[in-house]
Amino acid sequence: MNTFRWGEWVALTSQKGRKWLVRIEEGPYSSHLGTIQMEDVVGKEEGDYLDTNKGARMFLFRPTLEDYIFSMNRHTQIIYPKDLGAIIFYGDIQPGCTILESGIGSGALSLALLRALCGTGRLISVEKRPEFARKARENISKYFGANPPNHDIISADIQDFHMNLKADRIFLDLPEPWHAIASVSRLIRHGGLLLSLSPNVGQVQMMFKELKTHGFANITTFELLKRDWMVDERRARPIDRMVAHTGFITLAKRTPRLFIEGSSGE
Ligand SMILES: C[S@@+](CC[C@H](N)C(=O)[O-])C[C@H]1O[C@@H](n2cnc3c(N)ncnc32)[C@H](O)[C@@H]1O
Repeated sequence: MNTFRWGEWVALTSQKGRKWLVRIEEGPYSSHLGTIQMEDVVGKEEGDYLDTNKGARMFLFRPTLEDYIFSMNRHTQIIYPKDLGAIIFYGDIQPGCTILESGIGSGALSLALLRALCGTGRLISVEKRPEFARKARENISKYFGANPPNHDIISADIQDFHMNLKADRIFLDLPEPWHAIASVSRLIRHGGLLLSLSPNVGQVQMMFKELKTHGFANITTFELLKRDWMVDERRARPIDRMVAHTGFITLAKRTPRLFIEGSSGE
């Protein structure tokens, strides 16, 4: 049985799904639902529960990556889990890939990519602001317990970035990604995939133009809407509010040709 141990993190989860990520150390932990003694968590099985001194039930789960991303120090806008999932799948991330990403922001995408690489391949994150690079590194090493050996963070401007590299995948989460295309088109292998996330459709159009003139084909753009539902014995309906817009994901494939004539449509 894989029971909770001293020093690890637990997601204390109320019956309504509210979560508190707490390290298992000696002493009490209090919220508006009451107090539990953290030493009582040690030896409990995942999914078991403890009751607070106010009688509220707290389930004990190991935090998921989504739990961690929403609890970590976020000094920039992050890529939301619904988009992270799509990026991993449509970006066809697999163990062994060499990936170039810019910028690193708070490290949410880096965490998802590193998890998908399963300790293999390589992730290179290029970030213009050294203080963001430092904070993202803290978030990432806190999650993995150490700096992953297959991850390099480089403080540089991606628009003027040079490296002896032919990446399999490139991810851009930048305010002006089209200014990075001339630079990154040299750093990706033929057949490699480039993905970019932008909140505004004007950015997407600028990207399309730039990608086309730098040897990219099959340029497609989509967005994902995630609508949560409230389901119990009495009700089954969408909740009143949702995160209605995060960003557009643009996907393109690098070809050996530098200038591609015609439109990407059929
Ligand atoms: C929205 S944040 C990225 C968030 C990140 N994808 C995440 O999920 O946490 C954008 C980042 O791009 C960085 N950035 C902006 N322009 C850049 C450039 N020209 N070169 C490198 N990094 C840049 C910013 O400093 C910022 O950290």
